[in-house]
Amino acid sequence: MSYIAILGRQPALGTAELERTYGGKAVTPISLQSVIIDCEDFEIQRFGGVLKAGKIITELQPSNWRQVSQRIVQLYSDKWSSFEGKITLGISVYDFVVSNREVQQAGIILKQKLKKHNVSLRLIPNSDPTLSTATSHHNKLGLSPNKVELIIVRTREGKIYIAESTGSQNITAYAERDQERPKRDAFVGMLPPKLAQIMINLACGQLKPEEGRKLVVLDPFCGTGVIPQEAVLMGHAAYGTDLSEKMVEYSHANIEWLEKVYHKEFDYKFSHGDAMTNKWQQPINAVVAETYLGQPFSAPPSPAKLEEVVKNCDHIITEFLRNLGTQIKPGTPVCIAVPAWRNKEGRFTHLPITSIIARFGYKPHEFTNISQNDLLYYREDQVVARELLVLTRV
Ligand SMILES: C[S@@+](CC[C@H](N)C(=O)[O-])C[C@H]1O[C@@H](n2cnc3c(N)ncnc32)[C@H](O)[C@@H]1O
Repeated sequence: MSYIAILGRQPALGTAELERTYGGKAVTPISLQSVIIDCEDFEIQRFGGVLKAGKIITELQPSNWRQVSQRIVQLYSDKWSSFEGKITLGISVYDFVVSNREVQQAGIILKQKLKKHNVSLRLIPNSDPTLSTATSHHNKLGLSPNKVELIIVRTREGKIYIAESTGSQNITAYAERDQERPKRDAFVGMLPPKLAQIMINLACGQLKPEEGRKLVVLDPFCGTGVIPQEAVLMGHAAYGTDLSEKMVEYSHANIEWLEKVYHKEFDYKFSHGDAMTNKWQQPINAVVAETYLGQPFSAPPSPAKLEEVVKNCDHIITEFLRNLGTQIKPGTPVCIAVPAWRNKEGRFTHLPITSIIARFGYKPHEFTNISQNDLLYYREDQVVARELLVLTRV
């Protein structure tokens, strides 16, 4: 089966998590914002970097939008001519220069054709050629046979794929997990749940748990517990430790809240410990952590201040990796977010450890379609970016 995935704001992150899950050969970038995935089944809610996904129905090599529009009308007026009940349709066009009116027009022609067969179609208005994830999600498009979103993507080579959505990101659930947790801490900084999912996939994507067991995901800088929270929701067991007793309590309280919200009992444990010296309990199948990021900055710091913060973070993270390396088995995957600081020109200062990681017994993962350097997560107004390191203990 082939699926198209529409990727989020930083497409490299989505490409990376898909590659780690399905293998580099199964993932093919086709445009700036989308990839094709060859897989049996695609469960969008596991992937923080994917906005929408759809099963590919057909492909064509058109010279203009009119041909695409005619094909859609022909395909779906045939398919739905004897449909029982009302159909809701949304159309989203990616990487094709076309106006929202032209997109809408295709839907209107289809609606008129179906009307002749007494089939009623509700067309979702396009204020843009692409429906927002929120619109797709709130209209439950792709989640039942009568709620359809056509995802139309133009590839770099000018080919067109028409796919039927199988769902979009559940932004309501993400917002709830992010904002309604009882314990939050602005200073510790909160990792968005989507990014936690991406990181868990980057580490665990290729791992298969032993029969009847769960993978144990260790987060040695667990803070308020976003990574443990997403790990248990993805079916893993979470093991979090943190230097701060308060953070250990917060992680506990948040995951207990999550159990209530999801009416489930999760598998987790938390304890207090310094990541530079702690002895963790075994087994550990994967390590996923947003490490210490230094203090937050609202503007780029002075060179002296930057030097001090870089040194401090580098020390903690280097000692952590050294300590961890003595306790995890060869082959254990590690995905950590470490700080990188952006200056006014948008250039980054990286932690010295990132260029000498091999000396500590870790091998960076080689991706097929992206480079490790693309794995930087930040917003335009942020000074401290998160650089994702995807490593394997050698
Ligand atoms: C950027 S925050 C992680 C936030 C976390 N991802 C969350 O969901 O809230 C870094 C965490 O590292 C902890 N920390 C700092 N130094 C540490 C050390 N040496 N060992 C363990 N934890 C440490 C801090 O207490 C803080 O909770």
